[in-house]
Amino acid sequence: EQIDWDAEAAEKGGYDTYMLKEIYEQPVALTNTLIGRLHDETGEVNLDIDLDPSSFKRISIIACGTAYYAGLVGEYLIEQLARIPVEVDVASEYRYRDPLVSKDTLAIVISQSGETIDTLEALREAKRGGARTLGIINAKGSSMTRELDDTLYIHAGPEIGVASTKAYTSMVGAMLMLALWLARARGTLTQEAGKELLHAARALPRLVEEALEPARVERIKAVAEKYAHSRDYLFLGRGVNAPTALEGALKLKEISYIHAEGYAAGEMKHGPIALIDAALPVVVVATESRLLEKTISNVQEVRARGGQVILLLSDGDTENAQHADEVLYVPRSHEMVSPVVNVVALQLLSYFTAAHLGRDVDKPRNLAKSVTVE
Ligand code: AGP
Repeated sequence: EQIDWDAEAAEKGGYDTYMLKEIYEQPVALTNTLIGRLHDETGEVNLDIDLDPSSFKRISIIACGTAYYAGLVGEYLIEQLARIPVEVDVASEYRYRDPLVSKDTLAIVISQSGETIDTLEALREAKRGGARTLGIINAKGSSMTRELDDTLYIHAGPEIGVASTKAYTSMVGAMLMLALWLARARGTLTQEAGKELLHAARALPRLVEEALEPARVERIKAVAEKYAHSRDYLFLGRGVNAPTALEGALKLKEISYIHAEGYAAGEMKHGPIALIDAALPVVVVATESRLLEKTISNVQEVRARGGQVILLLSDGDTENAQHADEVLYVPRSHEMVSPVVNVVALQLLSYFTAAHLGRDVDKPRNLAKSVTVE
């Protein structure tokens, strides 16, 4: 008798798609990103790279797509915690804009595959200009790693789904460690603040696990299905979660083909507010932060114009629930690490929207897992 053996189903480990499997792998992926690198007792960060943290005056972060959004979170973290000037570029722009690079520059490229041609060429451009180079990379031995001065592997494990999920959260985890390492070396954080952040980082795998609790996932699925036939979607966030909004929008358009835009919430009044009507779902990242009050006033502007507000709120924030049509509660986390926790809800929202619409979630049309052509 023949044994019924479906190798692909086995590889998906019981999940319908690689993407869903990879979403659920995030607590383990993050553990592997952080493990052995953060030391609770001493507050030390050990990245095992040769880089001298005092050898540069500015940082250029270069990446594409989702990796670029991880770079935007990195900019925020490095500037806030280590007080070093950072600029972030989309690789396809950087490589042709004749960037100002010098020996004082640390160029950081971020890439899951390590093969994206625009990022690879941008890396070469930075090297020609004399920059020291550091890569935040997932794929071992990939093209970029052979040309980088230093590589900080994220150890997220193989990512098969075209839409990046676990690589993103691990990239942000790596940027956080890098920011802490730089801050420590430069003495820009008090010991107490450093330790608090280190603990917050170490809590990430557990918090992401909580973000994946069945009751939360069911709730996200219900909301996704309710709005799945919308023509457009808007995502808003502020501060360190402004890139979370951009990533939420990219994920949704990539796999569901619904037009979505992400904006820093404060930009609304400069144009996008004209889009708002009763048919537009607006997802707002409104978790605990210094800017929460400002975010809520942005929410009120949306509601006053009839927009459907889907609010991401921190667990226990019942007060702000009144401003929402739908609330998605997410685990409470330190503001500086919250992009990792918050994005999980947006990944799931995209996933269930696309699945409901019958899309090929793992292989969306017109896209390749790694873009090796210009
Ligand atoms: C993410 O969901 C996308 N598929 C895409 O934006 C991707 O992040 C980008 O092409 C960069 O890829 P890389 O990380 O392999 O360089």
